[in-house]
Amino acid sequence: MIPEPVSLILRPTPLHRLDRLSAELGVDLWIKRDDLTGFAMGGNKGRKLEYLLSQALALGANTIVTCGSAQSNFVRQLGAACAVFGIRCAAAVMALPFEDYRPTEHALSAYGGNETLDRIFGVDLYLYEDGTWEELYARADDLARTLEAEGRHVYQIPIGGSSPLGAYAFTRAAIEIQAQQDSFDWIVTASSSGSTQTGLAWSYHQTSTRVLGVACDPEPEIVEDFARLGYDLDHLLGTQKNLGPELFEMDFRFVGPGYGVPSAEGDGAIEKLAKTEGILLDPIYSGKAFACLLQRVKDRAIDGRVLFWHTGGTPALFARS
Ligand SMILES: Cc1ncc(COP(=O)(O)O)c(C=O)c1O
Repeated sequence: MIPEPVSLILRPTPLHRLDRLSAELGVDLWIKRDDLTGFAMGGNKGRKLEYLLSQALALGANTIVTCGSAQSNFVRQLGAACAVFGIRCAAAVMALPFEDYRPTEHALSAYGGNETLDRIFGVDLYLYEDGTWEELYARADDLARTLEAEGRHVYQIPIGGSSPLGAYAFTRAAIEIQAQQDSFDWIVTASSSGSTQTGLAWSYHQTSTRVLGVACDPEPEIVEDFARLGYDLDHLLGTQKNLGPELFEMDFRFVGPGYGVPSAEGDGAIEKLAKTEGILLDPIYSGKAFACLLQRVKDRAIDGRVLFWHTGGTPALFARS
């Protein structure tokens, strides 16, 4: 069942054309400003949290448990949402969770940036030594069991808020943007835990708009997780779009040194947008996604009317080590 969302963000978030960059690049480039949700310094998670918090409250939860990297933008926005509703937020975090290869140089600091904001919002951060994603998920499960044993009523949220309800929030975002301007040839967005891309891909399936996810994690098999999320979204909505992994269009070339580590291309894209349009991106997600967009425009691998979906993340600019 889809709960009535609580209200966290200001909507619609702005949509506008990037005139200077459009002229320079010879493309009709637009930007959807989910960095300007007006909630907890912005970002794509506010939309998901309106549904997730609603469900948690309806189930009588007084504690939310999640996990992520120490610079998680999701944990920051979740912390703010929990503060608004007077419930406890506990997050299992690692400086740099990894799959099997762990890049160490130039990773973000576990302190400052989002971590500073987490503490202001009152998040209980449990910082563990770096390990694999599976180990991080297990830490979150253990944390949830421990808090339940202490008598807390826990609602657990998967990493990045990527549950079917999180993806549903992005089907609503697609409706929001269709009311603003509905003729994009491409929508380009950073993609990681997947509910942003899944909600958009579900919405634009079999239309003339192509949704391109720019991977921030190096594992190509994440499209299988996205497909599973898409099936669960179908189930939630009683639809049968059946988006298989091959229907998630992704570009893996801009991950750089690894998840959670800034890249030269991403940093270049951050400077480019800052210096032409005065808009800031982040070094882990939106900067890498924008680097991909710039390269594809150059290669003529995207053209027409192109929308960059700015997913936020700028507090991480203040966690460079
Ligand atoms: C700034 C930013 N952009 C993009 C993403 C990716 O969104 P999703 O997790 O829905 O794939 C995240 C998620 O962590 C993020 O924090």
